[in-house]
Amino acid sequence: MSTPEISAAGRSDIAHHLHPYTQLRALERDGPLVIVKGDGSHVIDEHGKRYLEGMAGLWCASLGFSESRLADAANHQMRLLPYYHSFSGKVPGPVTELVARLTAWAPTEALRRGRLLFANSGSESNDTAFKLVRYYHNARGQPQKKKIIARQKGYHGVTAAAASLSGLPTMHQHFDLPLPGVLRVSAPHFYGNALPGESEAAFVDRLVAELEALITSEGPETIGAFIAEPVQGAGGVIIPPAGYFPRVQALLKQHQILFIVDEVITGFGRLGERFGTQVFDLQPDMMTVAKMLTSAYVPMSALFVSEAIYQTVADASAAVGTFGHGYTYSGHPLACAVALETLRIYEDDDIVGHVRRVAPRLQAGLQRFATHPLVGQARGLGLIGALELAEDPAARKPFDPARGVGAYLVKRAQAHGLILRVLGGDVIAFSPPLVITEAEIDFMLEKTALALDETLAWVRG
Ligand SMILES: Cc1ncc(COP(=O)(O)O)c(C=O)c1O
Repeated sequence: MSTPEISAAGRSDIAHHLHPYTQLRALERDGPLVIVKGDGSHVIDEHGKRYLEGMAGLWCASLGFSESRLADAANHQMRLLPYYHSFSGKVPGPVTELVARLTAWAPTEALRRGRLLFANSGSESNDTAFKLVRYYHNARGQPQKKKIIARQKGYHGVTAAAASLSGLPTMHQHFDLPLPGVLRVSAPHFYGNALPGESEAAFVDRLVAELEALITSEGPETIGAFIAEPVQGAGGVIIPPAGYFPRVQALLKQHQILFIVDEVITGFGRLGERFGTQVFDLQPDMMTVAKMLTSAYVPMSALFVSEAIYQTVADASAAVGTFGHGYTYSGHPLACAVALETLRIYEDDDIVGHVRRVAPRLQAGLQRFATHPLVGQARGLGLIGALELAEDPAARKPFDPARGVGAYLVKRAQAHGLILRVLGGDVIAFSPPLVITEAEIDFMLEKTALALDETLAWVRG
């Protein structure tokens, strides 16, 4: 593929910007795609070319890229009270409304009776959860109970603690991570991790046995928490097999291990329920939300903590004088105003109902690619999906990562006006805005088909 000439904006970017999650040398060579405008589920680049955003940005712009109700809510709040904080007994007005509305959205009674702690990103909220595991068990007189079990291919963010909980090698290499005290078990990825001939039930048995063996060998009295995404997103859109979460939860309960559910991608309707917690019948002690909380228009995240954790933290912090944690922007009024309006739109427009209505079209379309010679597995749930590419689909043999087959496919899709994302292992991810229409889903599938065929020709050529 020829590299288009890099624009002045692109040259400035390359000269001064250290890009997150980017192949930096390739960026220097190819330049960035400069996006300047949003329009519904589309974004528009500096040359006026339109793209359907098949990833809602980073799994987050649920209401698309031009929702004027959110712009108006932000504008109104900016003029009324642009900033105030929640430290030492104060609170900005919109927080009081948001906590009431958001706890009413909470998927379990334990969380509805609990408390909300705000931050600005999924990473920060998971970092907060990491710290609260220590606080809680220390306060209960069990200072040894603070190791956290996380999963391979998990993604929980990039602060030192959140990256440690994440199970993707590039997040640790050169960073001297993970931090001590993080233990790892396998991802529930049946396609990728099942043994030859293994049934799904036998695979679940094996994962549960692995978790149990780890708890036993470390000593349950040393394990403070287990963290999981209901559907693993950045690790490859991994949907757990039936029976996995009920059995995992039973083990956690048996050993009094806290369950942190990371709903940063799945919260607010992505899976066709308000939360993944409802899809998989989870009972979180803490639950992280971010991204679609504000349709990503303003940074905001929240950690739900159960009543039991709150009461313990309240007692212990009273004894030391204050609860020594919080961000300058925890519960920022602008973010609260936008989050409140986002939740109102979700309710007014029945966004979860819309997801349920249009998701079958996406999932059926992805399944039609399952027999494509490049596709090892097509999978998805609600408005999230993936095509895992394979050199030999029958043998589930992946491509050599160095060939960049998934990256090539994503570039071809982009040339056709569709933005997708390649995850590790040549997994092509789909996670469009929740407001996507059926016609737009058809467009996405049509351009994906074209990109798959062009990639096949390239691979064979
Ligand atoms: C499941 C999950 N948790 C946490 C994060 C981190 O969120 P942020 O990038 O807002 O820090 C992400 C980001 O993609 C995520 O997918």
